[in-house]
Amino acid sequence: MVNTSNLILAATVIGSAFASPIYPVEKRAVTPNSTGTNGGYYYSFWSDGAGNVQYTNGSGGSYSVQWTNAGNFVAGKGWKPGSARTINYSGTFNSPGNGYLSIYGWTTNPLVEYYIVESYGSYNPGSGGQKKGTVVSDGATYDIYVSTRTNQPSILGTSTFQQYWSVRQSKRIGGTVTTANHFNAWAAAGLKLGSHDYQILACEGYQSSGSCSLTVSEGSSSGNNNGGGQTTTRPPTQTTSRATTQNGGGGGNCAAKWGQCGGQGWTGATCCASGSTCRASNQWYSQCL
Ligand SMILES: *[C@@H]1O[C@H](CO)[C@@H](O)[C@H](O)[C@H]1NC(C)=O
Ligand SMILES: *[C@@H]1O[C@H](CO)[C@@H](O)[C@H](O)[C@H]1NC(C)=O
Ligand SMILES: *[C@@H]1O[C@H](CO)[C@@H](O)[C@H](O)[C@H]1NC(C)=O
Repeated sequence: MVNTSNLILAATVIGSAFASPIYPVEKRAVTPNSTGTNGGYYYSFWSDGAGNVQYTNGSGGSYSVQWTNAGNFVAGKGWKPGSARTINYSGTFNSPGNGYLSIYGWTTNPLVEYYIVESYGSYNPGSGGQKKGTVVSDGATYDIYVSTRTNQPSILGTSTFQQYWSVRQSKRIGGTVTTANHFNAWAAAGLKLGSHDYQILACEGYQSSGSCSLTVSEGSSSGNNNGGGQTTTRPPTQTTSRATTQNGGGGGNCAAKWGQCGGQGWTGATCCASGSTCRASNQWYSQCL
């Protein structure tokens, strides 16, 4: 961990036969750690102090970050406290190196740092963790992982805690994230959240350079989106016979026992009344049994 007060910025002298002026470097290298409210949204900026990271507030839920040879930073706007809200976002995210675009938040009791990763750069941040299954939400499948952080920075100071991850298999920049689907899928996989602290649309860089310019807003919570909430408790190796459990992503009626609950092209309920479980008979038909 690098402390900014020890950061020494050296002006570069250009080697030349002619005298070159030496410009003093006055630019602040890293935006200071801060949290607050801007444009009606909660915002948070955190970094380990390394490299050059500039965070800029925009109007409403907008903000931008430019980073060059960053250490680690997490920036964004959203809400405090977080909740199982539906989140809408748009913008740009340019991270050829290691960086993540995610819905990001913390809970306490238990202390958890969570990520719903929409896009990432050179490294899938969930891949270092343990795979816990998948969840289908908002038009794509996300891989669920859990990892443990030992004596790392947290909202309660240096602590040991778990990170929960949903990582979108097909990256995107812009759309709607039904967080309830992820929270429910994590709970079904034994990953329990505590009391919500903050929740932001986060742009994060790790030992990389890049830029992002993003806008977050609360979307309309219409319940399941595009098959939202369908979870597999293990990786779907046999797609024709996988058992599914349902997570009502914001409500909606479940199919009665013996009713249809899935299958290619099916647009009805994807969950089953309690006491029955949705099972795929074939590619075209799943039934509550
Ligand atoms: C963002 O806005 C807040 C509130 O207006 C302010 O306190 C904070 O310093 C701003 N952050 C930056 C990096 O300009
Ligand atoms: C922000 O806080 C962390 C501890 O969480 C600290 O190590 C770091 O130096 C701080 N960053 C800046 C820019 O002061
Ligand atoms: C999401 O945001 C886009 C623009 O960023 C807007 O066109 C769209 O109507 C919003 N959707 C919802 C559900 O708020």
